[in-house]
Amino acid sequence: MKQIVFVCLGNICRSPMAEFVMKNLTDQYQIESRATSNWEHGNPIHQGTQKIFQKHQVSYDLTKTSLQIKDKDFYDFDLILGMDENNVADLKQMAPAGTEHKIHLFASESVPDPWYTGDFDDTYRRVLAGCEAWLDQLARTEEFDR
Ligand code: 4NP
Repeated sequence: MKQIVFVCLGNICRSPMAEFVMKNLTDQYQIESRATSNWEHGNPIHQGTQKIFQKHQVSYDLTKTSLQIKDKDFYDFDLILGMDENNVADLKQMAPAGTEHKIHLFASESVPDPWYTGDFDDTYRRVLAGCEAWLDQLARTEEFDR
């Protein structure tokens, strides 16, 4: 089964939102999320993101806590999706040689950080649209399944 990881700065707002929205849309991929930083290490999903899950009946794992991405993840995951351009730039800096091709921007319009904007509804709209777009693209991309 192909493995996908969503990555943001803290792994408490955007990337866990993408992880559980995607898990609610498909069971075809193994899906996780990570942080580029260790700032929130061990902390639970932000209340704002949890409220969005409850509002939209997205089931999620209460025990999920922030984890920083590590070298092994770059080898293990097939697709590494940064939620904004800074995340992608940081991931490219961190990637062990030969794994950079797995890193992509989650959506052409990057997902603004609700940690700063406070707008988790806007985040949800973008996350849902982005997840649906990836599912479409993955279904079409033979290369991914080779
Ligand atoms: P996230 O949001 O990257 O979407 O999880 C943030 C969470 C925490 C911090 C920044 C962004 N922080 O500065 O601790």
